[in-house]
Amino acid sequence: MNLNGKRALVTGGSSGIGLEIARELLIAGAIVGITGRRQGAVDQALRQLEGQGPIRGLSADVTTSEGRARTLELAAESLGGLDVLVNNAGGVRAGRLEAITEDEIRQMVEVNLTGPILLTRAALSLLKESGDGLVVNVSSGIALVGMAFYSPYAAVKAGIAHFGEVLRRELDGEGVRVLTVYPTATETPMMATSGMGRDGGRETPSDVAREIVEAMTQDRLEVVRGGPARLEMVKQNRTDPQAVDEALRPIKAAMEDGARDHSAL
Ligand SMILES: NC(=O)c1ccc[n+]([C@@H]2O[C@H](COP(=O)([O-])OP(=O)(O)OC[C@H]3O[C@@H](n4cnc5c(N)ncnc54)[C@H](OP(=O)(O)O)[C@@H]3O)[C@@H](O)[C@H]2O)c1
Repeated sequence: MNLNGKRALVTGGSSGIGLEIARELLIAGAIVGITGRRQGAVDQALRQLEGQGPIRGLSADVTTSEGRARTLELAAESLGGLDVLVNNAGGVRAGRLEAITEDEIRQMVEVNLTGPILLTRAALSLLKESGDGLVVNVSSGIALVGMAFYSPYAAVKAGIAHFGEVLRRELDGEGVRVLTVYPTATETPMMATSGMGRDGGRETPSDVAREIVEAMTQDRLEVVRGGPARLEMVKQNRTDPQAVDEALRPIKAAMEDGARDHSAL
């Protein structure tokens, strides 16, 4: 896909990976809209992106029907249509399953799975009108290799990845493609309360966003972050999951410590 002049919407574009995707899209010549729940954060992001290309934004919650309608109004009215929908907004609460409340589990399902599915469904007519449409779903590496103490988050991130795979085949030959992205630990506000990779093992959101936007231009099906060792682990998790269990066993206590306070909903 040539992104020059394309109209792109990034949910959760006010922070972290989404903000950097918006920046890279502007560099590629796209017309970009960003959303997030907090108007102040959207305004701050708009100020950061000002002067880098045509950018619009508004506050909209992807988990509400009103928020999804506002998100699509931004595309239809301010961008003049929609070629690229980036389902990036997300949230996490980690820890032992019994320590995560029912409300937190429902919030994770809404923001990472139900919200993006319903937004995509509502956006399909605009994307089909484009004739060269793309849906980008930001899943997580945890959808490929489940890590202890993230069970509901891993479930919904695996769900959105599989949703994308099916949609890609359902829309085959109909002018709308799907790209699925699997980031690993990335230094963003979402990770502020996580102990994972605090010692330097996190990627930068700009590196992640650069590969995502490059993948859009190359019509790739997926982006798996984390480097060759990570790719090897993903493969081994299919062929020999018990070996992965054994490799993770010695760090289980450290993982629990790192996950216990991880909350960004
Ligand atoms: N950082 C990582 O290590 C990592 C790893 C794998 C996958 N991911 C995924 O990458 C995506 C981006 O995460 P990030 O790390 O960049 O997080 P972030 O910096 O916390 O940004 C999250 C963005 O989503 C918005 N958002 C949250 N809930 C929303 C809602 N209900 N409706 C609309 N917008 C909402 C936030 O704004 P408001 O708070 O104002 O709504 C913010 O703009 C998420 O899907 C996340 O699950 C992140």
